[in-house]
Amino acid sequence: MRELWKPGTVLNPVPVVMVSCGDFEKGEKNIITIAWTGTVNSDPAMAFISVRPSRYSYEIIKRTEEFVINLPTEELAFAVDYCGVKSGRDTDKFRDMKLTAAKGSFTGCPIIKESPVAIECRVKDIIPLGSHHMFLGEIAGISVENKFMDKNGRFCYEDTLPICYSHGEYYGLGKYLGKFGYSVKKKK
Ligand SMILES: Cc1cc2nc3c(=O)[nH]c(=O)nc-3n(C[C@H](O)[C@H](O)[C@H](O)COP(=O)(O)O)c2cc1C
Repeated sequence: MRELWKPGTVLNPVPVVMVSCGDFEKGEKNIITIAWTGTVNSDPAMAFISVRPSRYSYEIIKRTEEFVINLPTEELAFAVDYCGVKSGRDTDKFRDMKLTAAKGSFTGCPIIKESPVAIECRVKDIIPLGSHHMFLGEIAGISVENKFMDKNGRFCYEDTLPICYSHGEYYGLGKYLGKFGYSVKKKK
């Protein structure tokens, strides 16, 4: 027997990211925690974030037409939560969480220095969906913390201790299950 539910946002787990926005040169900076995000195209590389128009960050991103998706780590989980419950209207979240705003390499936005991966995006479209408006971003460039590069030039995402979000709870990565294509790989 299966229960039938009305439509809802049950897809899980989902990413959770810290989106930084503002104008670095003018000293404008803010962070908003976003779970409604994802990759939507490979070439050109594109990602989206869905933001409620009531958020302080909404006006900033709409005006600057840029945002940065900073990937969080287990160490940053507390700040992820904080940046998702406090508004930049009332406080400086960089200061409160002792995070460093660094100059973006591809946009005028600040990036979060403590995040190992900063994905800098330029807004291509804003699609009003209802509760949220989707900012469709083309990825202008990415900067990564080089301490996570191995000697073969591979960025070791797993070593950054990434986190995800599942129905109100934050989790680290679970156990390793296999790699891409392992289902069809011939056994030796
Ligand atoms: C885990 C988590 C995920 C969130 N995801 C979103 C989201 O996808 N879109 C959104 O508009 N707000 C989301 N929020 C809420 C905003 O982060 C929150 O309202 C924040 O205080 C807005 O900051 P701002 O007013 O400085 O822009 C999320 C909050 C948390 C804790």
